[in-house]
Amino acid sequence: MSPTRNPSSNSSSSPPTSHHLSRPTTSASSASSSSPQPLRSATNSSATTNNAVPTARLHQISAQMNGTQIASPFGADVVPKAPEDPLFGLMAAYRKDTFDKKVDLGIGAYRDDNAKPWVLPVVKKADALLHSSPDLNHEYLPIAGLAEFTSASQKLILGADSPAIASSRVASLQTISGTGAVHLGALFLSKFYHPAHNPNPSVYFSAPTWANHHQIFSNVKLPIATYPYFSPKTRGLDFDGMLAAIEAAPRGSIVLLHACAHNPTGVDPTREQWRQIADVMAARAHFPFFDCAYQGFASGSLDRDAWAVRHFVERGFELLVAQSYAKNFGLYGERAGCFHFVAGAGAEGADTAVRVASQLAILQRSEISNPPAYGARIASAVLNDAALFAEWEDNLRTMSGRIMAMREALRAKLEALGTPGTWNHVTEQIGMFSFTGLTEKQVLAVREKDHVYMTKNGRISMAGLNTGNVDYVANAIDRAVRENP
Ligand SMILES: Cc1ncc(COP(=O)(O)O)c(C=O)c1O
Repeated sequence: MSPTRNPSSNSSSSPPTSHHLSRPTTSASSASSSSPQPLRSATNSSATTNNAVPTARLHQISAQMNGTQIASPFGADVVPKAPEDPLFGLMAAYRKDTFDKKVDLGIGAYRDDNAKPWVLPVVKKADALLHSSPDLNHEYLPIAGLAEFTSASQKLILGADSPAIASSRVASLQTISGTGAVHLGALFLSKFYHPAHNPNPSVYFSAPTWANHHQIFSNVKLPIATYPYFSPKTRGLDFDGMLAAIEAAPRGSIVLLHACAHNPTGVDPTREQWRQIADVMAARAHFPFFDCAYQGFASGSLDRDAWAVRHFVERGFELLVAQSYAKNFGLYGERAGCFHFVAGAGAEGADTAVRVASQLAILQRSEISNPPAYGARIASAVLNDAALFAEWEDNLRTMSGRIMAMREALRAKLEALGTPGTWNHVTEQIGMFSFTGLTEKQVLAVREKDHVYMTKNGRISMAGLNTGNVDYVANAIDRAVRENP
């Protein structure tokens, strides 16, 4: 579990048990280590036809002799072609598939029982209110975003009665959804987090984690390491491994934690386990960074899903939170999210928050100037109105309830079929995803034979299941497991 500066592969095919980080062929470090080669361009492309090779080469030489063309500094040895994002590649393959019973269990987006995207009824209402408002305009938002949105977001994640809010220890900025919040936090840490006892700290991710964590943190040049998280044997949490690794990490390391509904495993620590994680992190002076992309979506309760974050705040930790409204509002494309810095519980907390906010504003200004308004306005309308808020909670229960029902149905069908292995983990895991334990071979078999699409690591998006396809998927899994033991 040694820290490394290289991101692990962004491929979701990396085995869930691997704590070892490999160097991707496209990493910036491998690219920048080779020197640019002049005179190398399209002539080397495998897509160039045999006839075109000499012609293109002649044109190039003649252009260079005439001084009209300078060799591109971005030759293939400097900018190699990157592999397609595995998840978006899977989506494209699914779209191309013409089979009528195909099933998409890849992307983490909610679908209703007819496999259709669901616009939350409360979002429709808020949208109508927004458009009928005489005050609606298209002015820039402030750099930190819509103030009523960021303050409501603080209350949502930290609790309306949070001591951190009461003592003005929270600095919040509206971001480009959860990804933007994770990025802003990563950038802030890379610039400002250099504790004296560990001036070049690593960030520790669960193994596995959301693949984008590796890309986001390596982009800002933070060294990356991992802690064990998922036990393939129990298909649950490797709690001892996790705790031991966090304990062994150099003092003052950054530890990235999924607040709830861990992606990709669907496995969360219990409250008692969270307490022990907090104990070890306090003893080792580690810095917690919570990624919260599924609040309310996991258990159906906004408060329950925020418990871990609130516990760490109560314990007096200084910490970061990345908050996404993509899943719990179904506002995937509107990019509504929020970033929070919570200063420690000491007397200087409010002052720290003011200084940090001023630097975050500079980072935000240089990257996006100011955030997009539409999604935040919708979320804000709901978060700041008691009746709409209650309706939102109801909509959340509809989504989480349907997902839980699909967990029950899939497990029941697999058990009824006598599919080799145990399937209790399907109902024990929580949130959008289930880590089925299917091997890569089995995953490919269900795709090729039955047109059921899931990521190579065996993760399925539970929202892709519905009453019309769950038996079909269970039968496909059953066959793949039996034929590919
Ligand atoms: C763990 C985790 N963090 C962050 C995100 C960010 O999502 P978005 O940028 O769509 O809000 C996701 C989305 O899948 C996620 O699973």
